[in-house]
Amino acid sequence: MGRQQAPFDQAASAYDETFTDSTIGKEQRKRVYHWLNQANFPKKGQRIFEINCGTGADAAYFHQKGIKIKATDGSPEMIEVARSSRDQAIDFSVLDFSKVDQTTIIGEAIFSNFGGLNCLSEIELKQLFQRISVAQNSGDLLAVVIMPRFCFMEGLYFFTRLKWSKLFRRNTSKGLPVNVDGKDVLTYYHSPRAVQKMLPDYSIQLKKPVAICLPPSYLEPFFAKRPRFLKLLSALEKNLGRISLFSGWSDHYILIAEKK
Ligand SMILES: C[S@@+](CC[C@H](N)C(=O)[O-])C[C@H]1O[C@@H](n2cnc3c(N)ncnc32)[C@H](O)[C@@H]1O
Repeated sequence: MGRQQAPFDQAASAYDETFTDSTIGKEQRKRVYHWLNQANFPKKGQRIFEINCGTGADAAYFHQKGIKIKATDGSPEMIEVARSSRDQAIDFSVLDFSKVDQTTIIGEAIFSNFGGLNCLSEIELKQLFQRISVAQNSGDLLAVVIMPRFCFMEGLYFFTRLKWSKLFRRNTSKGLPVNVDGKDVLTYYHSPRAVQKMLPDYSIQLKKPVAICLPPSYLEPFFAKRPRFLKLLSALEKNLGRISLFSGWSDHYILIAEKK
């Protein structure tokens, strides 16, 4: 019997084209790097342990900066693309969230970008954070980029398209089927407040919206025809994106926490 496909396997070969290298994807990633730099993540000498690394764009970024990184993902196909397209010196491994614990974590700064953790239900996410907390020592860092339960730009888009029933589609604790390259992936949205509550052993260093003005990446075809509009939104993001209160209304938000 063949192995069971991981949810993102079928998306791996096109992932860089549809997200990593898309204009919106690049703009959103720049915002993540901006906030990581603002919070000095990782601290000097810390090694990064990345979960849900996808095709390894962030691993390549950190590696280029001379930071030691081990990057993992639950999808063998994603890891295959990462290994074949990034620097051979980067350590990529297949690792499901369920196996992330003190026996597998290597490094003092854990990183999860762009909604990988939205594949976990509230209870599963809480359990993962508990295992991470056991593995981390005082002063260790955790940086996560997660999709909240409402997205202003998505709401605005659905509103103008008269798709009003979709305005608050994210606002549920149930998993929503989201089409990822032709296959539905169950997606759970988590508010920043709920995630903070799951981290009682951490002090929050930074909480910021990522894409409060920038649109979600599935609107790339719309914005490809309107580059000046996207440029304007990108400029607005630099101002309004500083307001922590908007974290619960943006496409993603970033939370950086330090183990007490
Ligand atoms: C939206 S992609 C983000 C990829 C990458 N972090 C980035 O910034 O482009 C979500 C990733 O989460 C991974 N993922 C989903 N469920 C997972 C699980 N149970 N264990 C580990 N990784 C998982 C997927 O394979 C996919 O690569």
